[in-house]
Amino acid sequence: QKSTTGQSHAKIIFFGEHSVVYGQPAICLPISKIKTVVSIKSSSEGQQVSSRYFTGFLSEMPESQTGIQLLIKTVLTELNQEKTPFGLTITSEIPAERGMGSSAATAVAIVRAFFHFFKQPLSHTELLRLADVSEQYIHGNPSGLDAATVSSQTPIWFVRGRRPQAIPIKQNTFLVIADTGIMGQTGLAVQHVKSQLASDPQAEAAIESLGKYAKQARHCLAIGDSKKLGLLMNHSQTILSKLGVSHPTLDLFANLSLSNGALGAKLTGGGMGGCLISLTPDKPSAEKVATVLEKHGAIHTWIEPLVTLNRKG
Ligand code: MEV
Repeated sequence: QKSTTGQSHAKIIFFGEHSVVYGQPAICLPISKIKTVVSIKSSSEGQQVSSRYFTGFLSEMPESQTGIQLLIKTVLTELNQEKTPFGLTITSEIPAERGMGSSAATAVAIVRAFFHFFKQPLSHTELLRLADVSEQYIHGNPSGLDAATVSSQTPIWFVRGRRPQAIPIKQNTFLVIADTGIMGQTGLAVQHVKSQLASDPQAEAAIESLGKYAKQARHCLAIGDSKKLGLLMNHSQTILSKLGVSHPTLDLFANLSLSNGALGAKLTGGGMGGCLISLTPDKPSAEKVATVLEKHGAIHTWIEPLVTLNRKG
């Protein structure tokens, strides 16, 4: 039986979440070891979808899955295959609603799988345009950064509306990603920042500072200044917290990381839950931070050596 797959992976935002929505730059890292795989088989029994949330016919997907349903229909229309039967299976290692790009990774893997299945060429621009169909539905006003990073093999410099740029990283540091286990709420957090901008005159300066830190961080990454990089993470966390998108557990994890040897720590992604990232100078200190955070309730931690992130593969 004919079967093809499409893949993508998790992402984290190193610098620039939220401010990226307003045109400021962001630095994002692909986390290739945490994968989403979509496989498609030919079928004689209609159009079927199976994932951790739903198993059944495309036309019967529940409201919570409307974004994915809409995306699949759009892709089928684009490929002139509206009526073709298939069996699609989504398998993902990315925890949902943790700022790790799970929804974008699903979208990217679906688009890749269908184009592969129907043997059609797919440009990167087209991939991002199509993935945006479900991201728009799920997140409201997405910057496009999630889809760009979960489909990239290299760290990227992302400015809304522009082609993502690969950036070099000169570091020997380690990142600890710690999952609080608390569902982040990207849509709500993005809305919250929007209303802050409408009501608080200081919010605009906060957004500009986040962009400035991203620019300084790019320089630190290129020259290997990990101390300053850590400080920039802390400054970003302070601002994100002031904007109201942190969470008491994220603040606790950040403080615990810093008192256990981290150079810097901040939330990653939409916030209000989700994950914290901590920069540590070496592997033993990364392991120490991970252990401490797990003791304080992190449901999962990942250690990511920064130095390998600019390798292709
Ligand atoms: C979500 O991963 C990142 C945000 O900046 C929203 C977006 O860029 O669309 C919070």
